[in-house]
Amino acid sequence: LVIKTYKMNKLCEIIKPSDWHHHFRDGPEWLKVTAPLCFSQFEYAVAMPNLIPPVQTLEHANSYRGSILTHAGSGSAKPMMTYYLNMDLSPDEIYKAADVDYMLAVKYYPQGVTTNSAGGLATYEPVRDQLHAMEDIGMPLLVHGEQPDVPTVFNRESAFIESGQIRKIQEEFPSLKITLEHISTSQTCAYLWDVCRITKAAKLAATITPHHLTCTVNDLFTGCGIRPSMYCCPILKHSEDMASLQELAMSGLANVFYGSDNAPHTDAAKFRDGGKPGIFNVQCGLDCVIDLFTANGWLDRLEGFVSIHGCDWYGKQIPNSKVSIFLANDEEPEYIDKYKVGNEFITPMHIGKKLKYKLV
Ligand code: NCD
Ligand code: ZN
Repeated sequence: LVIKTYKMNKLCEIIKPSDWHHHFRDGPEWLKVTAPLCFSQFEYAVAMPNLIPPVQTLEHANSYRGSILTHAGSGSAKPMMTYYLNMDLSPDEIYKAADVDYMLAVKYYPQGVTTNSAGGLATYEPVRDQLHAMEDIGMPLLVHGEQPDVPTVFNRESAFIESGQIRKIQEEFPSLKITLEHISTSQTCAYLWDVCRITKAAKLAATITPHHLTCTVNDLFTGCGIRPSMYCCPILKHSEDMASLQELAMSGLANVFYGSDNAPHTDAAKFRDGGKPGIFNVQCGLDCVIDLFTANGWLDRLEGFVSIHGCDWYGKQIPNSKVSIFLANDEEPEYIDKYKVGNEFITPMHIGKKLKYKLV
């Protein structure tokens, strides 16, 4: 009966999605929760390097990848690894990664903007040798585009774009591919549109998260309360920004794709004064995005955004497997729930809500 109801409610079939920005965290207690949650849905998932200590050698990336795979529970799991960019990342380690297919990119964190970014950079000048090595071997740069020292948190991303860092890096390293991660403002959308309009094969792309795509800063507050599970960097923005991101994601532009920035923290680390930024969205991320594309009549562009554009941008083979998307039935509703990591809980985005879709 259940199968029959699903069959009746089939919306479409798409190539298996991938997640181009994901925080698995480290250690078996985390990975046995995060790795299966991720790889039951995604083919490729980019593992962010902001561990303690950060991932800065091929050996470290390799052992971290091994741990993720040990817990992934899926034969086709493809964790893609990244290096953490600062002066301690030796260009030799970049060159060593040249022929390693799972070494995807290098991540730039401005110093002090987010979780484990104390070792990040104030500017790109000190890491010119690393950028040269990356340009040499065709390894992309992933950028957390926020400037820490600005009057309000809402302007951190605009300040970063206005600082001209990206433009300067592009001028100095013209073949370097750059992905702007988790973009969150109308201004950044406009910036990307401009670059892509001027240059056909633009070297600039962007990932968008499900939370920036479907939530605003109002979702950080419930009535007159605060909801730490919705606190992240970059902070959720305003409805105009969300509208621009939606327009961009549903435009079909090939330089834009899904990167969840799934970033769980324990409740103890999050629900306190000085609580950490990061949204645990792996259970509902695709659900939110499917709902957005469906509601706007762009279901035929969903596959590009969640399954194809990222593979093309990073030169990865498009997955062979497909998934069918069904409207979930009410007979066996699936609710978004907490998970336990060791003795602690992690609280997801939209806890308690019913998932609207079922991916099979
Ligand atoms: C991320 C984390 O917790 O690692 N936090 C976040 O708010 N997005 C780091 C990051 O990507 O900024
Ligand atoms: Zn992140």
